[in-house]
Amino acid sequence: MPEPTYDLADPRTFREHDQYAIWRHLRSEAPVYWNAPRGGNPGFWALTKYDDVVAVYKDGERFTSERGNVLTTLLAGGDSAVGRMLAVTDGKRHQDLRNVMLKAFSPRALAYVAERVQANTRERVRAGLDLGTCDFAADVAEKIPINTISDLLGVPDSDRDLLLRLTKTALSSDTDSDDPEEAAEESLMARNEILFYFDDLVAERRARPREDVISTLVQATVDGRQVEPDDVVFNCYSLIIGGDETSRLTMIGMVPVLAENPAQWAALKSGEVSVKSAVEEILRYVSPAMHFGRRATRAVTIRGVDIAEGDIVTLWNSSANRDEEIFTDPESLDLARTPNRHASFGYGPHFCLGAFLGRTEIGAMLEALRDLVDEMHITAEPERLHSNLLSGITSLQVKLTPAAGN
Ligand code: HEM
Repeated sequence: MPEPTYDLADPRTFREHDQYAIWRHLRSEAPVYWNAPRGGNPGFWALTKYDDVVAVYKDGERFTSERGNVLTTLLAGGDSAVGRMLAVTDGKRHQDLRNVMLKAFSPRALAYVAERVQANTRERVRAGLDLGTCDFAADVAEKIPINTISDLLGVPDSDRDLLLRLTKTALSSDTDSDDPEEAAEESLMARNEILFYFDDLVAERRARPREDVISTLVQATVDGRQVEPDDVVFNCYSLIIGGDETSRLTMIGMVPVLAENPAQWAALKSGEVSVKSAVEEILRYVSPAMHFGRRATRAVTIRGVDIAEGDIVTLWNSSANRDEEIFTDPESLDLARTPNRHASFGYGPHFCLGAFLGRTEIGAMLEALRDLVDEMHITAEPERLHSNLLSGITSLQVKLTPAAGN
């Protein structure tokens, strides 16, 4: 086999190739792959084997998030929110901030949000059924995650459409540009606008606290000192950025996957497989967040390959989740798969803070489809997102047939 030469930083790579063919090739030929410097970007390592990906996620000592945790920021040399936003903060400060955030996600707040998600999801699926043939992305899934996080944070209803648009642009799924540089510029502007938005909302909640997560955060203390308003702003931003698109792409992605696997769909509908186990398999199979990354804080050797101090190391969840050494028949959907320790939420100190909410949303969609829909037929080629970070579908024409009695 020739030495692979993909550029994993270039979104076009994922338009021109089937990503799973790339991962199979890399896992077998170059599991610790050096993505050579290209187009002004520095080179970086790409890990594609499950065990390596999980080991680096868990090793906050030898691999830091404080110089960025996704290719965009790692390649640019850093992230302006270091030490303030959970995902790019390490050590004690990270643990303290994470505890504050976890406390703000009280069981009461989460129970309220979960109830709203279930009702909202059923309502959206019914709306899709009323249309007969609908765009599942725009007509059904689009607003479910943004409403969930907005409910949690206390974002007014009138601002949610704006935040959704900004989030999509920030993560490059909704850019008018095909040129990577222009798209990066648009995405930077959108990220700044989200920060400005939360700056105002945080100031408002400081002046007049309510019963929501932002109000809890602005009143929280770490080591006897109030959490700085800017830190609250950065973490609101990270909840929106982290929680909207990932969940949305998973909800959309499950539809063709279930439509293409009629025996699995039947097993879900008959109750032969539980929604709980189906949620995990959908997360493994769809792998919405393709990679995260770190910088090595010292020289390390992985599978005999020397990685120097300061090198960028990217962890490809979408490959780890299909590693044939870990998952039996990894390219097949098996809703009853057990064990199913997929890497979709990461591992270790930065394990996804929103995993409970993400699972709740995906479970609510599986339940709504199971109870309300009889058959799903994809009526046009889905439009896919082309990004090096997120994988999924942006437009999905599907004909939904109602279940008996609905
Ligand atoms: C299917 C849905 C989701 C997926 C696949 C996902 C994936 C991930 C992954 C892989 C990480 C680890 C990043 C790293 O190690 O650098 C992470 C972290 C994070 N996620 Fe999620 N996420 C999802 C939903 C959510 C939701 C709904 C929220 C917000 C409510 C959220 C908020 C966060 C935050 C704040 C972090 C940073 C945690 C830390 O650094 O301590 N995520 N997510």
